[in-house]
Amino acid sequence: MATELEDELGDILGKARDGKGWTQADLAKSAGMSVGDIARIENYEWVPEEKVVFKIANALDLHGPSLLAIAEEKWVPEKEIPDPGPFDITCLNVFMGLYPVKCYLLVCRETRATAVIDTGANPEAIIKKARDLGVKPEKILLTHTHPDHAGGLGKLDSAFGCPTWVDKIEPRPSGSHDLRIIEEGDSIILGKLNIKTLSTRGHTPGGVSYKINESVFSGDAIFAGSMGRANASWSGLFNSVAGNLLTLPDNTRLYPGHGPATTVGEEKQHNPFFYGKVFQ
Ligand SMILES: [Fe+2]
Repeated sequence: MATELEDELGDILGKARDGKGWTQADLAKSAGMSVGDIARIENYEWVPEEKVVFKIANALDLHGPSLLAIAEEKWVPEKEIPDPGPFDITCLNVFMGLYPVKCYLLVCRETRATAVIDTGANPEAIIKKARDLGVKPEKILLTHTHPDHAGGLGKLDSAFGCPTWVDKIEPRPSGSHDLRIIEEGDSIILGKLNIKTLSTRGHTPGGVSYKINESVFSGDAIFAGSMGRANASWSGLFNSVAGNLLTLPDNTRLYPGHGPATTVGEEKQHNPFFYGKVFQ
């Protein structure tokens, strides 16, 4: 399969264990397996057969068929259909070492007003792409301030001289000469576009997503087939994704900070964490 998901079976197990506050030994006991076998799965050394995947899914309250499809590399989201809204989205892989981070340029088609969503760590690719497109970003919107998403802020601030937005309880990033604070539910105007902010806290204290028309830039809150690591609050992250993102219409595009773009409908049908757990 050409498209690679951000998370494999081993990653999903680790994150689901976090949600229960379980050690590998706790999971092994609950699933009737050995600790060594759980460790082998989480170390990407073993992809077990269907029966075992279902036992683990059952123990961790994950959706078995969705987990199996990911374990066997039989599911990736459908290729995205561009949003019909009056803007263009460019996705860029910006690297921190060898680790790719998805950053985005959002351009208002009518006015050419442009925002950068997340900076990556080494944002030369963003500066070059903006030049190639003939746009000068006037806003930087941060989904959160982990170094792989905000480490390039100083370079982008120097290149574009524009303000940066961040959630009010997120740790403050360095590198911006003009930091603006987002309150829950704020909107941000970009040319003729009205960008809404959605709270997706939990991966970090003040994680935020940005919604424009039928598209959401969701940072590390949710990945295709998985969720972010809950560094701040597992239940906070789960509930904000289930309540603030997956209640949007099924055709809403989700542009995560890592891995392929997906949609609300795809995740409701195929994400082992959220299948059957989203209530409108
Ligand atoms: Fe992150």
